[in-house]
Amino acid sequence: MKVERLPLAKLTTLGVGGEAEVWTIETPADLARATQAPYRVLGNGSNLLVADSGVSERVIRLGGEFALWDSDLGGWIGAGVLVPTLLQASARLGLSGLEGLHGVPAQVGGAVKMNAGTRFGEMAGALKAVEIFHNGAVQHYSPSELGFGYRHSQLPEGGIVTRVKLDLEPLAEEAVRGKIALVDAARKGQPKRKSAGCAFKNPAHDSAGRLIDQKGLKGTTIGKAMISLEHGNFIVNLGGATAEDIYALIKRVQAVLPLEVEWEIWGRLEAKVGQEVI
Ligand code: FAD
Ligand code: EPU
Repeated sequence: MKVERLPLAKLTTLGVGGEAEVWTIETPADLARATQAPYRVLGNGSNLLVADSGVSERVIRLGGEFALWDSDLGGWIGAGVLVPTLLQASARLGLSGLEGLHGVPAQVGGAVKMNAGTRFGEMAGALKAVEIFHNGAVQHYSPSELGFGYRHSQLPEGGIVTRVKLDLEPLAEEAVRGKIALVDAARKGQPKRKSAGCAFKNPAHDSAGRLIDQKGLKGTTIGKAMISLEHGNFIVNLGGATAEDIYALIKRVQAVLPLEVEWEIWGRLEAKVGQEVI
């Protein structure tokens, strides 16, 4: 186990966020130790906006035993494994079920927590069983016990996903790759710059990106953060953005549209006004 003070900007895809004490755990004994004081769990940091002042709680990262998996995808898979790695392996093995997650840069645990996915498929649909550490012990759950919905799950309070078993169907490799290509085509309009994916959840039967676009907000820039010109629901870091810049853009959008933030916000943030450049 490693314990170090690190800037969370280095561990999140948006590339912002101050320091925290990061506990990279490798064994169940590490997990038991790390959870003896208030903590947060970090996956691949691809759905997080972390305050410039960082967070006071321990930040637990899954390494070692929690990042292991069998190459046939049949057994338990560590929650610290990256979903894109599993998706590539599943295509090679001729196994279908993860294609809807193409382009989602999550760890397995983060994808379970957020029920990540697209209209082509979600994490919940590819799960057979989920192992969760909670109150000092691991317990196994079936997906139906975890309250999955759109970008939502109901894990036990403070629960850490440690391993999962996947539920994949045999399908010819070309057919799996064909499904991946369909999802890839649907993602073509998304920006390549640093982001945390969509900032807001879609309202029922509509697209937050389309609504933001319709209000003429694309290109709105605060400091070094901008509402993407390519897709209205992406806020991008142009290089050197602060969490305050990004949060101020969130508030700017919410001043005109009643949208719910999809990201998880860590630490204290206050939106400053009057810094906008269009
Ligand atoms: P983090 O961002 O690190 O954490 C997210 C939440 O999960 C936090 O609450 C964290 O505490 C919790 N968590 C992480 N690991 C565990 C664990 N082991 N046990 C318990 N809780 C845990 N999302 C989509 O749904 N669809 C998309 O199409 C999509 N596209 C994206 C494209 C880009 C370019 C980017 C940067 C992001 C995109 N996202 C998308 C958002 C993001 O990838 C997902 O929300 C993903 O599920 C986050 O996983 P993570 O491992 O990065 O988790
Ligand atoms: N649109 C616009 N302007 C924009 C953006 C979108 O007019 O700036 C229009 C598009 O032309 C399209 C419609 O809105 O007609 C829907 O857009 P898109 O197909 O891009 O889908 P989305 O609803 O905006 C959702 C997910 C994405 C996921 C894509 C995959 C949410 C909040 N967003 O986006 O998920 O990658 O579908 O197709 O559910 C994420 O959750 O982080 C994420 C990126």
